[in-house]
Amino acid sequence: MSDLTTTNTGAADGDPGHDATTAGEHAEHAELVLPNGRPAPAPLPHEPRRADIDPKAAKRAERQVSIMFTLAILLFLLFVVAYAAVDKTTVIALPLVGTMSASNLTLGLTFGLAIFLIGAGAIHWAKKLMPDVEVVQMRHDLVSEPQDRAEALEIFDAGAVDSGFGQRRIIRRTLIAAMALFPIPLVVILRDLWVTPPDSPTPSALLKETIWTKGERIVTDGSYQPIRPEDIPVGGLVNVVPASLLEVEETEGNLNARAKASSIIVRMRPEDIRSQQGGTPEEPWDYQGILVFSKICTHVGCPISLYQKRTHQLLCPCHQSTFDLADSAKVVFGPAARPMPQLAVTVDSEGYLVARGDFQSHIGPSFWEQGS
Ligand code: FES
Repeated sequence: MSDLTTTNTGAADGDPGHDATTAGEHAEHAELVLPNGRPAPAPLPHEPRRADIDPKAAKRAERQVSIMFTLAILLFLLFVVAYAAVDKTTVIALPLVGTMSASNLTLGLTFGLAIFLIGAGAIHWAKKLMPDVEVVQMRHDLVSEPQDRAEALEIFDAGAVDSGFGQRRIIRRTLIAAMALFPIPLVVILRDLWVTPPDSPTPSALLKETIWTKGERIVTDGSYQPIRPEDIPVGGLVNVVPASLLEVEETEGNLNARAKASSIIVRMRPEDIRSQQGGTPEEPWDYQGILVFSKICTHVGCPISLYQKRTHQLLCPCHQSTFDLADSAKVVFGPAARPMPQLAVTVDSEGYLVARGDFQSHIGPSFWEQGS
């Protein structure tokens, strides 16, 4: 049922072939009335754009659009060059931002700018060159009759003609070229999965190691405060990181170390712990019921900190994988295939919690070189 109808035109008679008219035609042939019987406000007078009346302006706009698409092409190519040429270990310092990886910065800038220019070019094209006609379309029931589908196709074809996609060859070609190059950066960076520089660890080895080392203090994530066992109540959960994380982030200029080393501490009564991933009865991996696990879900890597203290279960909000932290963090529900890796802990001479080494299994999602 229409909210807005015409009083003296065939446009509202349910004939879809006649219910879309330009505002000018509408103003000539129809008077719109609102459901309360009052006349609808008249449309504002339509001002033609510069490019509509000046062929030189239209040509200029066409050039601007194609320049943006061409710059996008160059930036995609620059992305590939930067990927190959910029040393991945180089770190640069930027005012206000701090240190960051030169490789990440150049890859992000080139790819981001290329995408931006394609978007900006498309908007500029639509605003300056595509038809600037106000169209009034009457509402009608949403049925999908064959006639409607045929009409939609007609409108699509007319839109293709109106957009100038067929006629404006330079825009069409530069846009097609820019879009054709769009997947290249995505494919190029896949190379990192199987090709590594000489003397560099393989991706698999990189994922095996975190910055947790023997004696590394465990500090709260955010405030970086060392933690004593008595700071953690039974049933509590604290997000933690290694004490050296800030320094490593400063040196590496990226968040890789954080992505791998983020962990959680939980505390339960020692008698509630049914099994652990390692240790001996004399030297268990927990410290007085304090257990530390990776925070990165072994399904596809979401960070987890939803903990139910009554059941000792850790729940991943992404796909509901559930781990029993009292029983070696085994998977009790959901798609994850492996337990959450456990970190062995103790206290140092000052009574602060420290790691007893790195994780003994891969953190994060499973992958082909690792098995399940
Ligand atoms: S990422 Fe945790 S269940 Fe999928």
